[in-house]
Amino acid sequence: MRDGELLAFAEEERFVREKTAVNRYPAHAVKFCLEYGGIDITEVTSIAFGWNAQKYAFVSGGSQMEQFYDSLSKIYSKDVKTLASEKEILLRFQPERIESTLFQALSEVGIRVSKKSPTIQYFSHHHCHAASAFFCSGFASSSILTIDGSGEETCLALWEGRGSQIQITERVELPNSLGWLYSCFTEYLGFRPYRDEGKVMALAAYGRPDTNLERVFDKVTGLVESFPFYRVDPNYIFYGRHSYGRRFTDKLVTELGAPREPCFEVDQVSADIAYQLQKRLEDAVLSFLRHTLAKRPKNNLCLAGGVALNCKLNRVLATEQKEGLFEGFFIQPLSSDAGTALGAALLENYRIGLGRHVPLKHLYWGPNFSNDEISGVLRKSGVKYNRVSSVATEAAQLLSEGSVVAWFQGRAEAGPRALGNRSILANPTSSRHAEAVNLKLKRREPWRPFGSSMLLDAADDILIRSEAAPFMIQSFLVKDSFRKQIPAVVHIDGSTRPQTVTRENELLHEILEKFRDLTGMPLVLNTSFNGLNEPLVNTPDEAIETYLGSDLDALIIGEFVIKRNGTSPSDLDS
Ligand SMILES: [Fe+2]
Repeated sequence: MRDGELLAFAEEERFVREKTAVNRYPAHAVKFCLEYGGIDITEVTSIAFGWNAQKYAFVSGGSQMEQFYDSLSKIYSKDVKTLASEKEILLRFQPERIESTLFQALSEVGIRVSKKSPTIQYFSHHHCHAASAFFCSGFASSSILTIDGSGEETCLALWEGRGSQIQITERVELPNSLGWLYSCFTEYLGFRPYRDEGKVMALAAYGRPDTNLERVFDKVTGLVESFPFYRVDPNYIFYGRHSYGRRFTDKLVTELGAPREPCFEVDQVSADIAYQLQKRLEDAVLSFLRHTLAKRPKNNLCLAGGVALNCKLNRVLATEQKEGLFEGFFIQPLSSDAGTALGAALLENYRIGLGRHVPLKHLYWGPNFSNDEISGVLRKSGVKYNRVSSVATEAAQLLSEGSVVAWFQGRAEAGPRALGNRSILANPTSSRHAEAVNLKLKRREPWRPFGSSMLLDAADDILIRSEAAPFMIQSFLVKDSFRKQIPAVVHIDGSTRPQTVTRENELLHEILEKFRDLTGMPLVLNTSFNGLNEPLVNTPDEAIETYLGSDLDALIIGEFVIKRNGTSPSDLDS
């Protein structure tokens, strides 16, 4: 950010090519942002950090967080693995360690930080989630709900935002964590915790109520009469013996049996467990909100934190909005911890007197490449390509013929969803096209749904209770009249996760208009352009390499088109 203005945002994973770039400092992302803004590190006044490391700073008697962990140890029996992991966290967040590791990572990409500036400013993790939502919402005032695994000792909080101020009003501390609960079952069901929660959410739609499972879940989590109006029993999660996994205890296995091995197919029992989990999450969040919001004047609601990536939960909350629990609703699409970088930067701007709201109109804040740069890469690659006068016309035509098209345009989108700049597009009118996307590139589990991009002005025809949804962060039910017409983007529960498109993304809007002219359908299937287990492609080289390693029918990159059975020679390039 420069003088309160957002210039660039990118996640480290895109540069180091490792999803979520676990435990890495974002040196390559910082380098990109500085270069994009034409800013030298010596001009940077502050680095804002989305975690309050001061709580980990050693003082006699132990740091604040050490004392917090000790207080929980007196109540719960923690096994050696959990105690070791707490120790590791206490060390990792020492301010001196953060500073030296960060500056070392920056120096490795050629950014040398002097001793004097910039200074690191630490902000509490949930405060950053809250700021990322409220200051980007466009609301003058709002309640703000933040939910995640944990940030320092907090796992859920309610805030009030007004103008430049954000005040906490309710706080829920570990171990009563809904994020922990969800990641515990993500691991138990054979998926990767803190990565694959979306798969569990998708699987939940196949599940059925089961009274035996209900009885087990009643022990693990449920609603209570007093604050915070839900409970999570950590003896099934972190606290206790772990023979099978890191995030669930043997006590859970005693109740539910052995966890699913990742190599086995998911079965109905897995789906039924996912169903229970999803239902319990929704009930807990609703219970908390109904009790706490009822006591205050009706206001808007902002939502952030990793749990806010659950687009089914968000649909349930949107229903509550319609029923009057709150007024406007804004979900920060950068709700994972990546978004706390934005929240921290916004808070630091206010601290130094440059603060302002930054209503989020789009997420295209990443790297961009000119047509000259792209054609240089294409020439080097030796592929046959064609330069066309209208890439949108070309894309719409290919999609109408049933081709699966890789689409690379403009600045990369931030966040976990492809929003039409690094996307795979396909025709939504037959499930064969969804199967083709999987066969040709994605190789995802066949039960997982694909998102859709639709013209905003057509959303009301397709969706029940439609509204502008530019970030694919909330699912909607599809009207009966449309469900059979667009099976490639409708989940088993009749929902879709849409991106409503306006001229904010001019090219994608144009594709949709032309596709509607050709087929009568104002939407396409849209999924992320990446290989299996990789982050979104970031550069033309990666786009071409991924395309060549796939069976996709075409790649449209900048003004250039490459077709699988391409007949256009590169000498048509002008
Ligand atoms: Fe978080």
